[in-house]
Amino acid sequence: PAPGWTVEADVVVVGSGVAGLTAALRCAATGARTVVVTKARLDDGSTRWAQGGIAAALDEGDTPGQHLDDTLVAGAGLCDEEAVRTLVTEGPDAVRRLIAAGARFDTTGETGALALTREGGHHRRRIAHAGGDATGAEISRALVEAVHAQKDLRTVENALVLELLKDGAGHAAGVTLHVMGEGQHDGVGAVRAPAVVLATGGMGQVFAATTNPPVSTGDGVALALRAGAEVSDLEFVQFHPTVLYLGPEAEGQQPLISEAVRGEGAHLVDADGVRFMEGRHPLAELAPRDIVAKGIMRHAAARGTDHMFLDGRHFGAAMWETRFPTILAACRAHGIDPVRSPIPVAPAAHYASGGVRTDLYGRTTVPGLYACGEVACTGVHGANRLASNSLLEGLVFAERIAEHVTERAAEHVPGHPHAADPAPNAGQHTPTSPEAGDARTPGSARTPGSTRAPGNEGAAGNVANATTQHATSLLPAEARHAVQRIMTGGAGVLRSARSLLSAAGQLAALPAELADKPAEPGVDTWEATNLHLVARVLVAAALRREETRGCHWREDHPDRDDTRWRRHLVVSLPLTVR
Ligand code: SIN
Repeated sequence: PAPGWTVEADVVVVGSGVAGLTAALRCAATGARTVVVTKARLDDGSTRWAQGGIAAALDEGDTPGQHLDDTLVAGAGLCDEEAVRTLVTEGPDAVRRLIAAGARFDTTGETGALALTREGGHHRRRIAHAGGDATGAEISRALVEAVHAQKDLRTVENALVLELLKDGAGHAAGVTLHVMGEGQHDGVGAVRAPAVVLATGGMGQVFAATTNPPVSTGDGVALALRAGAEVSDLEFVQFHPTVLYLGPEAEGQQPLISEAVRGEGAHLVDADGVRFMEGRHPLAELAPRDIVAKGIMRHAAARGTDHMFLDGRHFGAAMWETRFPTILAACRAHGIDPVRSPIPVAPAAHYASGGVRTDLYGRTTVPGLYACGEVACTGVHGANRLASNSLLEGLVFAERIAEHVTERAAEHVPGHPHAADPAPNAGQHTPTSPEAGDARTPGSARTPGSTRAPGNEGAAGNVANATTQHATSLLPAEARHAVQRIMTGGAGVLRSARSLLSAAGQLAALPAELADKPAEPGVDTWEATNLHLVARVLVAAALRREETRGCHWREDHPDRDDTRWRRHLVVSLPLTVR
């Protein structure tokens, strides 16, 4: 059925973390009619949970070149150097603009200069932080406030974006969305716009235990795939080494113990108090996080356990309270006092280094569709993201997208004048055609009267000649838990052909196994469906990459193989890995 109501805009931004709100604010500031659509509330995404901070060469003596070197080393041979150069060169000014826009970062008492910390893989102190360990919460607060102050920027909360609309030429034309509410306020609609920016964040919920909030269900990657876009590097899932260990059965979002705790001098130890990272890497506890995660797993396995400890008792109560108040509170809420005892820690899924493939302006392989932040694969992370580069990536590439989108709008060109430009990172690939299929948009088509939903202000029939691209069979909500169990069992920190083949088989069988369960359109069924799709793609890529590199760890191929595998895997639908 056609959507029941339509809003016309110049740009629709899907997602409201640092990337989405930065893109939206900058588009709106130029006068572009901008709509932000977000699945829950504006601050419910991953950004709010970021602790350690935002990395940039802000210190005297630090340079973008040094930041570039550390990023390339962490990325294990797969970073796009031009993308990294863009990130580290534009990063410092982007952070200064964020501060000018109202974000309050911690400063040093004496000089008032930014207080900078260290994290894994960084050879210098270059991580700016806020509220001690609440950097993301402060960035989110500042951006949400700026959004509320920007009267021309419309926000639609509690709205799940379903599918990309395309015009007859295959150019993005907007999105369909399901606004959640009660009774007559519940309904399917559309935002029609020639520029669609995906900023939906990550997919950590594809695993049983993750640092990601419940909303991180890979919606943007799934939507982009269904729309015919290419995704890349999905096999590189970063497992954060130090997540509060709450027992082998712990599921869902787990409390993060920031790398900054190690950056300030806490030690990883085993139950006997032995520092096991010394001798494994010159940076010991501050090695890139894949190396620390492996160090924990190996030492734990050798000792017949599944977790290690982080010892920061020497900080003392005052430092814990001022520098790491969020972590202190989370530990104490679980009965652990880091002032008195080491914190039990284990790796958990944290960040998708890959995502929807883009060029340096955030353009995907579908014209008019952009992506930034964790949902994107700009090439800056390669096989393993350097700590605290993610907020920076969201900021820098969102600004570049806004610049590209609004320059286009200023030209008053309704089509896509840049579509013919070769996309710098897109190599030889051209946008692929989506699979044929009927548009099957769930939900009833009604005009919502809620203040949370946009009004019925689109021109009559203005979505009639724009089509959704893909038939989507919804899975029941139960699929979410099943996918998480399968993925943690077969595609977690340790992988092999055997474990991945088993995971692939179980994922393929899941729809039939759950066929008798109801799958009414709604957030839970769409999230389960999206998780299932991204899990299948992730497993297919992980199976294909027969080497160990960055955060992709194959037990059956334990070495890095630059002769065969110093290249990216690109995936599109129908499921093809190349
Ligand atoms: C952390 O604070 O350890 C997380 C930083 C990051 O993931 O970049």
